[in-house]
Amino acid sequence: MRVMKLVTTLMLGAALTSCMPEQGTSDAPATQTADSVADRALALLNQMTLEEKIGQVIQADISAVTPEDLRTYNLGSVLNGGNSAPGGGKVAEPEEWIELADAFWDASTDTSDGGVGIPAIWGTDAVHGHNNVQTATIFPHNSALGATHNPDLMRQIGDVTALEIRATGLDWTFAPTLAVARDDRWGRAYESYSENPELVAEYAAAIIEGLQGLPGDPDFLIGENVMATAKHFVADGGTQYGIDKGDTVGDLQDILDIHAAGYGPAIELGIQSVMASFSSVNGEKMHGSEHLLQDVLRDQYGFEGFVVGDWNGHAEVPGCTATDCVASLDAGVDMYMAPDSWRGVYDSLLAAAEAGELDLERLDEAVLRILEAKIRSGLLDAGRPSDRATSDVSILGNDEHRAVARQAVRESLVLLRNDDSLLPLAPGLNVMVAGSGADSMQQQTGGWTLNWQGTGNSNEEFLTGETIFSGLSTAMSEIGGDAFLSEDGSYDSRPDVAIVVFGEQPYAEYLGDRTDLVFEFDDGENLQLIRELKADGVPVVSVFLTGRPLWV
Ligand code: GLC
Repeated sequence: MRVMKLVTTLMLGAALTSCMPEQGTSDAPATQTADSVADRALALLNQMTLEEKIGQVIQADISAVTPEDLRTYNLGSVLNGGNSAPGGGKVAEPEEWIELADAFWDASTDTSDGGVGIPAIWGTDAVHGHNNVQTATIFPHNSALGATHNPDLMRQIGDVTALEIRATGLDWTFAPTLAVARDDRWGRAYESYSENPELVAEYAAAIIEGLQGLPGDPDFLIGENVMATAKHFVADGGTQYGIDKGDTVGDLQDILDIHAAGYGPAIELGIQSVMASFSSVNGEKMHGSEHLLQDVLRDQYGFEGFVVGDWNGHAEVPGCTATDCVASLDAGVDMYMAPDSWRGVYDSLLAAAEAGELDLERLDEAVLRILEAKIRSGLLDAGRPSDRATSDVSILGNDEHRAVARQAVRESLVLLRNDDSLLPLAPGLNVMVAGSGADSMQQQTGGWTLNWQGTGNSNEEFLTGETIFSGLSTAMSEIGGDAFLSEDGSYDSRPDVAIVVFGEQPYAEYLGDRTDLVFEFDDGENLQLIRELKADGVPVVSVFLTGRPLWV
């Protein structure tokens, strides 16, 4: 009997299209020069009140802010965090994203109160496709994509992801993650392309080109392209013991040589935003590190976009709270990610300004950086989201996009062994598909899918897509065979082959941190099942779904 080891990683839930296309046109701005962008931004700044400037450096989560709030407080940005979608659940129809984007656009561009009316920009974690949006194309996670060693595929994935973000009326993704994960106990190891800084640097250029387009091209950042974010600066993947939000310790240059490897290429490709890391370097929290955010990222690396904080990441700075942290602005964070704390941040910044405790030149600098990125991204000329030609939900998960995802899955599979060439399976076989991952959309797609952790999502809650079993069943029937599902591996009549699919359950961020890398000891249920099948003379193909290498 032969046990086959076919190792793959957290994968996709491919998707089907639905919904009516949105029609409309939007004029992309003529090619802009650095000077014209700077002049336009300065002209806007000079019209803004102190309150408008403070609102511009604050980003709120859509679950905690209304369009009316945007109108009143002139907030510069909104985000939908991992658990946020229009209407509050994960069942929002694609059109609802465009409708809410229209509402935020109308509110933020309203000038009836005499304000300047600068459109708010909506950021989302489209980190393996537009993953919170039903029917969008979902790709394997970054650790899988790293295994393909195919930068051109990354460019295509960036293209598809940008198209699908624009299709829902949004402008900005908090991707790519450029972490160089050095300890797989880290819950975000799967968000890192590789432990190899050279591969991360190569991929950074490719994915950012796919998302943003190329600097100097007329469609750079506009039309079908979006604004991207290099994250999390810096050394998020180097913390001691792989502890999420922990401390990366060592010689600073050694740390930067490894963990900042992707930022040079990102800056060369015109990355418009960098997200500060929750973590620390040599004991200093990144959200309060003037040396790394200003001296290194700006002066040494030449970054000219804006720094966005992470989710209340400013609260990690000693002496700060989620609603009060002038220190982060002073250190070089230009936009506070203040999901549910935005009103407190607004009030505390205004109070500091009125008490003469806020560096108003620093505030102006932060506002200018945000305005320049919005101008470069065509946001001020793009028109209402639903009027843009790119706002067309019918392209979500279309066949062309799904073909790129299927290629990514094929190329990211890691085959460990194929004794006696059992694979590829011969035609006409009766195949049993077993294991916890055999018929589980959420186990295939992992974290950051439909919601933050990627858990609690029944197969039925994915409006489209197919499980490994349903895909195999279709494939087997096309070659004269058949497949049946038996998650516990039991059967009446012995199958010709068993495919046992097992592995990690979804997780995200610190909830995925581990103290060791053992998936299963000798008495594990999956190992027992495989041994029983072998003992009964059934050849086994084992498929291990995981975000990281684990001992099995
Ligand atoms: C999260 C993550 C970051 C993400 C942000 C918004 O905590 O650290 O990667 O972009 O919050 O969801």
